[in-house]
Amino acid sequence: MTFDLEAIPPGDRYRILASLVTPRPIAWVTTQDHEGNLNAAPYSFFNVFGSNPPLVAFAPGNKDRRTPKDTARNIRETREFVIHMVDEPLGEVMVATSATLPHGESEVDLHNLATLPSQKISVPRIADAPVALECIEHSTIEIGTNRLVVGIVRFIHVREGLMDEKGYLQPGQYHPLARMASPDWYSRTSDQFEIPRPD
Ligand SMILES: Cc1cc2nc3c(=O)[nH]c(=O)nc-3n(C[C@H](O)[C@H](O)[C@H](O)COP(=O)(O)O)c2cc1C
Repeated sequence: MTFDLEAIPPGDRYRILASLVTPRPIAWVTTQDHEGNLNAAPYSFFNVFGSNPPLVAFAPGNKDRRTPKDTARNIRETREFVIHMVDEPLGEVMVATSATLPHGESEVDLHNLATLPSQKISVPRIADAPVALECIEHSTIEIGTNRLVVGIVRFIHVREGLMDEKGYLQPGQYHPLARMASPDWYSRTSDQFEIPRPD
């Protein structure tokens, strides 16, 4: 079976690509506008791209033809965001925060998500997330109707018991959720195994 993407409308391309390029990590992103309204939303067009500087990127689209999603709009205003990793107990509420709310209405308040202050930026983080990455915007790249927010990670919070002091994971403790076929499929990461690399 083949797909010629040049002959396929963008919506179908999205479904095909987003279903095949899986599993994807999920960035649960908090941002604030100038008034301090706190926003949370999940983004699975996301990954880490380097460590020097510590680089992440994710791709928030538009609400409609002209209006950027609140996450992108807030980053344009304040240039700061927190990326949280999500584990299974947080899956339902993470998906609930993907509902489209009017700008300025907070998913964090709506779902009673507890927050904690960040260390190096002013955007608060979600207390129950296993991992929180405090980020500043490096740049935002627009390609066609895609928007890629590139960020530098400045500070990391890891839930107690997940990692040792040197940054090695404690075996069997960290199970981030993965995004699978579009629109609603996910995978657990509880069945992990090791393949040693050649010398
Ligand atoms: C698991 C998951 C992953 C998502 N990934 C993306 C994504 O990569 N890009 C995007 O534009 N929207 C994505 N969405 C949809 C947004 O979360 C949704 O449009 C949300 O309302 C945006 O919120 P905001 O306007 O507060 O930023 C995703 C939704 C879910 C449930």
